[in-house]
Amino acid sequence: MSPTFNTKSATINMSSLRFLVQLIVLGFAFNLADGQGLKVGFYQKTCPDLESKVKEVVDQVISVAPSLAAPLLRMHFHDCFIRGCDGSVLLESPTNQSEKYAFPNLSLRGFQIIDKVKTAVEKACPMVVSCADILALVARDVTVAIKGPFWEVETGRRDGRVSILNEALTGLIPPSANISILKQGFQQRGLSVKDLVVLSGSHTIGISHCSSFSNRLYNFTGQNDTDPTLDPNYIVKLKIKCNPGDQNSIVEMDPGSVKTFDESYYTLVAKRRGLLQSDAALLDDNETKSYLKFQALNHGPTFFKDFGESMVKMGRIGVLTGTTGEIRKVCTKVN
Ligand code: HEM
Repeated sequence: MSPTFNTKSATINMSSLRFLVQLIVLGFAFNLADGQGLKVGFYQKTCPDLESKVKEVVDQVISVAPSLAAPLLRMHFHDCFIRGCDGSVLLESPTNQSEKYAFPNLSLRGFQIIDKVKTAVEKACPMVVSCADILALVARDVTVAIKGPFWEVETGRRDGRVSILNEALTGLIPPSANISILKQGFQQRGLSVKDLVVLSGSHTIGISHCSSFSNRLYNFTGQNDTDPTLDPNYIVKLKIKCNPGDQNSIVEMDPGSVKTFDESYYTLVAKRRGLLQSDAALLDDNETKSYLKFQALNHGPTFFKDFGESMVKMGRIGVLTGTTGEIRKVCTKVN
């Protein structure tokens, strides 16, 4: 064989190899968010009243406790980002070693609402509907209950049997994340840069503990300094709510409309008043920046539609379908 031929075949081999690797990586990402086996109305025959039952419980709960909407929406996100949307965030462990006990999940609330919905659903359709699907339906219904968008929720997820504290500790994106960590965290799960900026819009509702952002107020680079990307007037206000070292006080993410799902998050971030570093980081990328400025300047013309679409995509991450996993009888325990 001539050296030329060798070189050429080596080149072909190298490029095929690169292509193969790309395919595997893409396939992996695709698989993570392709949601094969899910469909709208999966329980139409097996549990026809499922969606109205879930909505009934959610509406009743949110009418008396609207502040539970935010953590219940967040719960579906935390479920999907670790091991896929498989209800693993709900599992309890006698030694506190499941995801639920990982630091970022200690601020989740509303587990009892998921149990309440599951009990109502089990009564009507025993052992049919997964806890992972209940999380997805509840996330949609709490959003609607606080004047946010409606979207059709695909169902057919099954529940996982594994939940590991350390996976949630290391796998959930921290509030200190910069734009490349954020983009990477979403991309690894088959979600786009647009999904990142759209789903971050969830921070239009709910609260944050001081511990999630107080480094921006008091010790940003270890020099007792503040985060230069945060509006200095806002820093003054936030310091009143969060004293140095205060981990437990809470601050509204979107002051004034914390219980209403609207596009005002983007106006806040554009004014350099995003509470978390991960919110402010959306100004560091052209695509996320132009999306948020567009929504901020035009009263969020496409935010609701985009949000529904991105939630559907998020709900497809790493799902168990068909005969994999199980339908838990109780959401906190494997069967
Ligand atoms: C992009 C990366 C994200 C990061 C780094 C992040 C981080 C955080 C942090 C640190 C908090 C405050 C927790 C506390 O101190 O109590 C929070 C709150 C919240 N997050 Fe995110 N989040 C992200 C994306 C999302 C997504 C995709 C959703 C939903 C689809 C979401 C929904 C929420 C909601 C609703 C709250 C308020 C919770 C409450 O009121 O209890 N977040 N997030």
